[in-house]
Amino acid sequence: MKPYYERAGISIYHGDCHEVFPVLPPKSFSVMLTDPPYCSGGASSSAKTADPVDKYCHNGNALGRPTFSGDAKDQRSFVTWSVFWMSACRRLLKDGGYGLVFTDWRQLPSLTDAFQAADFTWRGLIAWDKGGGSRSPHKGYARHQCEYLVWGKNGKCRPRQDAGPFPGCHHEPVRHADKFHIVGKPTELMVKLVDFCPQGESLIDCFAGSGTTLVAAAKTGRFGAGIEREEANCEIAAERLDELFDVSCRQ
Ligand SMILES: C[S@@+](CC[C@H](N)C(=O)[O-])C[C@H]1O[C@@H](n2cnc3c(N)ncnc32)[C@H](O)[C@@H]1O
Repeated sequence: MKPYYERAGISIYHGDCHEVFPVLPPKSFSVMLTDPPYCSGGASSSAKTADPVDKYCHNGNALGRPTFSGDAKDQRSFVTWSVFWMSACRRLLKDGGYGLVFTDWRQLPSLTDAFQAADFTWRGLIAWDKGGGSRSPHKGYARHQCEYLVWGKNGKCRPRQDAGPFPGCHHEPVRHADKFHIVGKPTELMVKLVDFCPQGESLIDCFAGSGTTLVAAAKTGRFGAGIEREEANCEIAAERLDELFDVSCRQ
């Protein structure tokens, strides 16, 4: 399978992650850092199966960014599917490689179950604090201010001399000018998280969206592969990477 985009050690594959995993070399990535569809966003089945633009973008703030698929699984199929893709991706990780997977408060228990069922050794959680601008359904509620990374290892957690200890909490607000996907992550957050990957080594993002993980990797001297099912998002990611590489060529 030919990558949709390839430049300076960064590749994007357009397709379902299950089609792409078999073409990638086993035990070749140091880190899996990824942001899968949360399949969250509502207590009722009609709320859960709504288009992600309606689920996650309040007050019309999709701002023309494309929607995405794969977000409507019910709870049991979300767990089963998560075990499948994490198991398949774990085989692409080096022994002792890191797994870091984003989730929200609703899906946290299911995701930690799936992470361990996929044979990752669960080591902890990293909180992403989005700040006081986060949504609160109404007064009397605690804001849904944090999302989480479930993190662990493909095997043993050996002490590192080159990096860490890494922060267990990141405060990083979402800025519209830095959001290229309706649920895109801040570039600065991803720049901090790619620290888990030693410089010069490679990471994989199985749900690359607008390519924020790959942009962070490219900015900081890492290599990587991203997989994305929606071509519109592959194109946005490719444009972001080209812009970054073109600027660094001019410098
Ligand atoms: C939460 S978004 C990732 C956003 C990304 N972190 C960013 O900053 O842009 C998840 C992405 O996974 C993609 N996706 C869903 N199911 C997929 C699958 N089975 N294989 C590959 N990509 C998939 C969706 O199209 C969506 O863009």
